[in-house]
Amino acid sequence: MNIAVIGSGYVGLVTGVCLAHLGHRVICVDNNIQKIKTLKSGKVPIYEPGLDKLIKECVAKKRLLFSPSITDATKKSLAIFIAVGTPPKESGEADMVYIENVSREIARCMTDYKLIVEKSTVPAQTGEKIERTIRKYLPEKYRKLEFDVASNPEFLREGSAIEDFMNPDRVVIGVNSKKAEELLREIYKPIKPKMVVTDINSAELIKHASNSFLATKISFINAVARVCTLVDADVLKVAEGMGLDKRIGRRFLDAGIGYGGSCFPKDVEAFIHLSEKNGYDFRLLKTVREINDAQKAAFIKLIEDKMWILRDKTIGVLGLAFKPNTDDMRSAPAVEIIRALQKEGAKIKAYDPQATANAKKLLKNTIYTKDAYSLAKGCDALLLLTEWDEFKTLDFKKIRKLVSHPVLFDGRNLYHEHNLRDLGFEYYGVGVA
Ligand code: UDX
Ligand code: UDX
Repeated sequence: MNIAVIGSGYVGLVTGVCLAHLGHRVICVDNNIQKIKTLKSGKVPIYEPGLDKLIKECVAKKRLLFSPSITDATKKSLAIFIAVGTPPKESGEADMVYIENVSREIARCMTDYKLIVEKSTVPAQTGEKIERTIRKYLPEKYRKLEFDVASNPEFLREGSAIEDFMNPDRVVIGVNSKKAEELLREIYKPIKPKMVVTDINSAELIKHASNSFLATKISFINAVARVCTLVDADVLKVAEGMGLDKRIGRRFLDAGIGYGGSCFPKDVEAFIHLSEKNGYDFRLLKTVREINDAQKAAFIKLIEDKMWILRDKTIGVLGLAFKPNTDDMRSAPAVEIIRALQKEGAKIKAYDPQATANAKKLLKNTIYTKDAYSLAKGCDALLLLTEWDEFKTLDFKKIRKLVSHPVLFDGRNLYHEHNLRDLGFEYYGVGVA
């Protein structure tokens, strides 16, 4: 099928490339000309495992093109996926301005049937608004043109987005015509997914509810971790014991410094706002948000308590990205934690395997090192903020000799089993003894 993907960010690019890999002919569009130039030159603007290789393959097979033009892509495509950003406004409400702009632009160049699919995370009832917008902006002589709007939310985790696309737990489609359903079924046919077919509003809500539920699970275990600290229990064992109950499940029960990224903080906020706007006070989610914020504050306080005066002390930060296997720094807990320590006068050194370039835009007065060992040199304490694989196998005997003081604050409980205390480290995790 000929497909256009409008918006070539983390979600749009992965979606476009994976659809091309499935055999479709895809045009990825972005209004950021520089991004399109980069992609055309064979470079990938983000770090996502496996993406560069897949792009090369699809481009070589002539199934994947990049373009700055919505008009060109719309004319050549039967299905058009919208994957532009939906950033939060000051109020927490998702900003739909890009979705509206893109809908208008698509409408203006439509001359035959199109299926317009919202891929971006949007509040319920956005599909109806897109449909109204398209109808309104269709050229005069095409006012009666047949088209469909559908919702097909993404559930792609950064760092394993390709795997999530190719082997999804489910594909959710919200449609209001048989034709739209059939086209979407055809698009996803090669991966034979479990399909949930529903109306557009429900599909939109599935996305918000799913991400908010996962955020709730994380905040729940973080709250439990706080209690564990108070009663001298071990949150890792508690999570293990809870997680073996199949009704609960172990995944997303990792206590730490809280969730970040471009989705959970924004989606929880947007869901609170959507509910409020429609007359429901979603207090549970407000608490989820509060617990998440408190997690960072508690970690900062722990560091302050244990190190006493931070002025002129050197703190080495292992990991900056909001999670491993991505270079994404959006809402990364590291930003708030580092800024708070810098405010107290601490000198920060930092190392991340992929996110340094993006971190430099957000965190000034920070010394960025090329690996964990040069980071450790002369540090009064180390913080583990992102659980990258390469940090799991660090040589702590060597690090012990490099640091000024062997103190480690483990924001992800990565080293709980490492017996760092036996190596002479002062070790602090989150909710672990
Ligand atoms: C975005 C949404 O923010 C998220 O809610 C949704 O689930 C998926 O899409 P992401 O792909 O991570 O997430 O956003 P981002 O990396 O910012 O990509 C958006 C892209 O759209 C950017 O490359 C931007 O240049 C492009 N864009 C934005 C357009 O092409 N046209 C516009 O009008 C606005
Ligand atoms: C999320 C959704 O999982 C995905 O389906 C899609 O909707 C986009 O948003 P993503 O933000 O890429 O994916 O990463 P995810 O793996 O969900 O982690 C989000 C945040 O939660 C990270 O900061 C991570 O460190 C944190 N997290 C995750 C925890 O603190 N504990 C956990 O147990 C799991």
